[in-house]
Amino acid sequence: MLKLGVNIDHVATLRQARKTVEPSPVQAAKICERAGADSIVAHLREDRRHIQDEDMRLIKENIGIRFNMEMAATSEIVEIACLLKPEQSTLVPEKRQEITTEGGLDVTGNRGVLKDYIFSLKKNGILVSLFIEPISGQIKASKEVGADAVELHTGKYANTKGEDQSKELKKIIESAHFAHTLNLKVYAGHGLNYENVKAIASISFIEELNIGHSIISRAVFVGLENAVKEMLNLLRS
Ligand code: PXP
Repeated sequence: MLKLGVNIDHVATLRQARKTVEPSPVQAAKICERAGADSIVAHLREDRRHIQDEDMRLIKENIGIRFNMEMAATSEIVEIACLLKPEQSTLVPEKRQEITTEGGLDVTGNRGVLKDYIFSLKKNGILVSLFIEPISGQIKASKEVGADAVELHTGKYANTKGEDQSKELKKIIESAHFAHTLNLKVYAGHGLNYENVKAIASISFIEELNIGHSIISRAVFVGLENAVKEMLNLLRS
């Protein structure tokens, strides 16, 4: 059964808009768990624009489902992860000026440093996934540097229409198959919403989708528990 990871960064974005204590990311994580989510995703960015170190600790201590720590490949954040020991980490590229994670990680161009970080994370019992574009060279390199999994970036698929979108979908389908033949776990995410998720949800070999912005946005109108359940229904129908 296809799994759903809910990214709760934007609950913290709302809190940080007023630098207050609500809404609480850990409370959001618990509601997602109750609604049937399979994992909680949170990105501890270097600039701490939304999720804070204390949020990470509280989430880890208070949820019973898998905790997937999204993070940049830097020594500071890798050290934090090794102490926190979430069940999973997802390495992503990170730029201070970006609004959200733009593009995938360049694994082919950063093999040496990624290999070291992946080694440290795995030594601490943390499953390592790399967030990459659906390109065969990046998938092959991910296997070579020791990753357990790849998360295929669906941003281009989400931001296109018609024939262009079909081409992006084809790349994701082929990439999922290729990653599977290399014995990598396959996840996907970014820009997925209640309208565009179905085609991605029906791709063989993708085990889990990680979705944030659309679920938190829908939660404003129907509540978080309902927003998660509605997405789960779409994934599994
Ligand atoms: N997966 C990864 C690796 C991401 O960086 C993000 C965005 O934080 C997501 C999934 C979720 O993207 P969205 O918020 O567009 O659903």
